[in-house]
Amino acid sequence: MIPHRPFRLFVNPHHGTPGVVVLPESGFRRAATEIAAWPGYAVTPLHPLPEIAAGCGIAALHYKDEGSRFGLGSFKALGGAYAVARLLVAELAKRGVANAARVSELLEGRYADATRAITVTCATDGNHGRSVAWGAQRFGARCVIFVHEGVSQGRRDAIATYGAEIRVVPGTYDDAVREAAATAEREGWFVVSDTSYPGYTEVPRDVMQGYRLMAEEALAALSEAPTHVFVQGGVGGVAAAVSVQLRARFGPGPRLVVVEPEKAACLLASAEAGQAVAVPGELDTLMAGLACGEPSLLAWQELERGAFAFMAISDDTAVEVMRLLAARSPAIVAGESAVAGLAGLLLAAADPTARAALDLDAQSRVLVFGTEGATDPELYARLVGVSSPDSHQAVKPVS
Ligand SMILES: Cc1ncc(COP(=O)(O)O)c(C=O)c1O
Repeated sequence: MIPHRPFRLFVNPHHGTPGVVVLPESGFRRAATEIAAWPGYAVTPLHPLPEIAAGCGIAALHYKDEGSRFGLGSFKALGGAYAVARLLVAELAKRGVANAARVSELLEGRYADATRAITVTCATDGNHGRSVAWGAQRFGARCVIFVHEGVSQGRRDAIATYGAEIRVVPGTYDDAVREAAATAEREGWFVVSDTSYPGYTEVPRDVMQGYRLMAEEALAALSEAPTHVFVQGGVGGVAAAVSVQLRARFGPGPRLVVVEPEKAACLLASAEAGQAVAVPGELDTLMAGLACGEPSLLAWQELERGAFAFMAISDDTAVEVMRLLAARSPAIVAGESAVAGLAGLLLAAADPTARAALDLDAQSRVLVFGTEGATDPELYARLVGVSSPDSHQAVKPVS
């Protein structure tokens, strides 16, 4: 289905060991109830891919397609925007404006004078910043978003659409994270980050609780528990959210495989090292959303025991999988950061050693997360060879 390409696979020796509860259930229930009540909420599609399953020699394959999430094009709409809402409610209470403001009141602009005086900020390689900017606009806060030089103009423009100021930082995503934190400290702004580090966990925990809704929708729609789940990793937030939700619903059975770009495989490197480590270098990958060199502290606390294995794949493979999905009928539009999980499955399923190591066989039922649509339509058109200005029209999506 796709050409054989070199990849790395590391089976986690600490899988299944007990650890800390990173995402308490009460926080997830609050997030799910809240987000499901927002205007425009809809469960995203779960596509069966029987022909790809057959090609992989497995029983079933499902693809959770986040391309239509809140019109923002990625699952990140669930996390950053929710954390902005939570932060504003807490800040209004601290400032004596409202003891327990409801998000519906923020949406109505009831506390607009007070929320306008609050600035939220973050670093992004595209999707998280779009979510934070969208949340800030919806809930009435000011917003400044930091991007590194590698973030495409299309992605910068998409964030600016929601009224955010964009600042460009030399270097990588991790440099932008540091710059956002330093500026916020100086200016009295609030960092709404999707990554966590020592002393900064509350907001990213809310972000990850929001992501769990994506996992819950997918797991609830499956008629049988998956045997394997493949999901892509940047700082590990979404993979950790999937891991927690998988265990909450199905116990320890399903095997989670986290897949990263070979040039930014900080989670795989951490698993090999037995502790969270950063990977050096330019993090030079086409998979912009996954170009992260340092694991999120919270995410790592979950993944170090929750992930069954880690893989690293090449950019070429990601493009081939985007094309594979675009060429099927009906087509699926998947951005370059959406397909690493599926790419990992395709490579592992075709390799006898990896197949055995992951226990993939004719009975396997696999779930993958397509975490974005064509969030940069120009880049999508260039990579896939289909030209269209709009992600959802680039290729006719599955209905
Ligand atoms: C489309 C997409 N998928 C996956 C990820 C990875 O998420 P995380 O950084 O939480 O691992 C990102 C991050 O930006 C993304 O944009």
